Amino acid sequence: MHLKIALLAGDGIGPEVIDQAVKVSDAIARKFNHSIEWTPALTGAAAIDAVGDPYPDQTHQVCLDADAILFGAIGHPRFDNDPSAKVRPEQGLLKMRQKLGLFANVRPTFTFPSLLDKSPLKRERIEGTDLVFLRELTGGIYFGERGRKDDGNTAFDTCTYTRKEIQRLAVKGFELAMTRSKKLCCVDKANVLESSRLWRETVQAMEKDYPEVEVSYEFVDAVAMRLVQWPNSYDVLITENLFGDILTDEASVISGSMGLMPSASVGTENALYEPIHGSFPQATGLGIANPLATVLSAAMLFEMSFGLIKEGSEIRRVVNLSLAEEIVTEDLKGKGEKGNSTTEVGDYLVQQIIG
Ligand code: IPM
Ligand code: MN
Repeated sequence: MHLKIALLAGDGIGPEVIDQAVKVSDAIARKFNHSIEWTPALTGAAAIDAVGDPYPDQTHQVCLDADAILFGAIGHPRFDNDPSAKVRPEQGLLKMRQKLGLFANVRPTFTFPSLLDKSPLKRERIEGTDLVFLRELTGGIYFGERGRKDDGNTAFDTCTYTRKEIQRLAVKGFELAMTRSKKLCCVDKANVLESSRLWRETVQAMEKDYPEVEVSYEFVDAVAMRLVQWPNSYDVLITENLFGDILTDEASVISGSMGLMPSASVGTENALYEPIHGSFPQATGLGIANPLATVLSAAMLFEMSFGLIKEGSEIRRVVNLSLAEEIVTEDLKGKGEKGNSTTEVGDYLVQQIIG
């Protein structure tokens, strides 16, 4: 198969972790007789510096022309500490999600047998955790009307959802639940928010189309608590943009390192794959960034965009090997132990694939 992939490395550790995912994907392509055409394009602070826009039209075109997009990370402290900055790298991410119509963000959380004791949560709490958040990504408070009033002394952000936006996300949730344990949890704040009441009403009305799926409705504050108490009691969870943003960061801690969790953002035409971690600017160029979340994002890309299941499994196999053999970066090593470099981890994965 010929795979056309847009490559958006972005800022901070983005380029380093992306390099490893490219090496691993190329090794997979060699092993399974595929060819990959990578087209790099600028995003984030790097794009602001080059052309003054964190998601330039040219990058958008590269994404439209590709079959799938592999993304690193964006963000730079120079903008975080400057509230007056007119353009910010993160705006590129939001613009990209919106222009590409990537309305469903798929964020799995699972545990790795060899890392059960690395999690801040007790082994017996997390053993067997294998859940997936479907976070709505192009609506809600992120994209609602916002502004200032009263000479700048009052600020507002609004959360708006249409029934259609909720339905298309919920369809993905029901469909995913059908391929797993047929359990779906709708996370909302329907005891307070009107938009949440529409979420609940819409999902309730869809239950009859999926009679085998057992749906539960839980308030977001309660989910935040149960997620760290009994994460293994959840399977597929659907939720709106901001709740999903917060809960998926919380969930990522369960596996033992944020550097491990991949994600996919899918729409009707395009799909983008990225690690859930940020650009980790303090680590840029030090060779300490964990590449596994990006490598696992590439596994999701093979599986979800191309239906290449064996290829995805092979990536997961070698990632598990690196964890078991402790060829890992310092975030996964014990106190005082030296980690392998980002590149060493990537090289190890490649060797195991072409072995
Ligand atoms: C994420 C990030 C983004 C978000 C930021 C960088 C805009 O935190 O992908 O979760 O809030 O969606
Ligand atoms: Mn986030």
